[in-house]
Amino acid sequence: KKKLSIAIDGPAAAGKSTVAKIVAEKLTYVYIDTGAMYRALTYKAIDEKLNLEDEEALLDTLLAANIELLPSENGQLVYLDHKEVTNEIRTEEVTNSVSIVSKHPKVREEMVRRQQSFAINGGVVMDGRDIGTHVLPNAEIKVFLLASVEERALRRHAENLQKGFPSDLDKLKEDIARRDKIDSERKTAPLKKADDAIEIDTTSLTIPEVVDKIMALVDERI
Ligand code: C5P
Repeated sequence: KKKLSIAIDGPAAAGKSTVAKIVAEKLTYVYIDTGAMYRALTYKAIDEKLNLEDEEALLDTLLAANIELLPSENGQLVYLDHKEVTNEIRTEEVTNSVSIVSKHPKVREEMVRRQQSFAINGGVVMDGRDIGTHVLPNAEIKVFLLASVEERALRRHAENLQKGFPSDLDKLKEDIARRDKIDSERKTAPLKKADDAIEIDTTSLTIPEVVDKIMALVDERI
């Protein structure tokens, strides 16, 4: 069977990683969460007290950083300089700074170079913002996942409560909308549906329904 490259893009909290992980598991492909790479750099930059507008300092820090995404039973473990940071990169502080770090062209160029090297042999499901447009422009399958801000905030809220984390629905809505705005308006590789991507609005779909739609696209191609 042919090993495809599958690109899954979309705004914050649209369910990309949940769906991408399941699709990768079904196909025994590698799942690559590119957002985790930008988050790991942001975590390191905060730790080193860098000015997040200083593109050169961020690039130097990235060039010195070892970022690894390792498959595990419940998805993926993230390692920064050989230390596990899977949970540390999901804090509110990192979440609310990552869009500043990821707007810098030189940071993106190096991230894209690393991401492309992971996908060189195909058999990958990669999620992010610019996968279909820049990282894997030749991916056989491109999906753009959408959902309303209200729905995305509600999902994240339910997830937080379930995990026993404090959660404020209105604040989630604001944070998601702000991150989408920065990601969509940046000059370099903004969040944007690729011309040849299939758009799936997940607002009223369940996770298995979204997975089925993507698997149907895969079946047409394999
Ligand atoms: O996917 P996730 O929400 O974890 O991504 C965190 C942030 O990383 C995004 O809001 C965006 O600023 C940045 N990102 C990006 N390009 C990607 C993946 C993520 O700019 N391919």
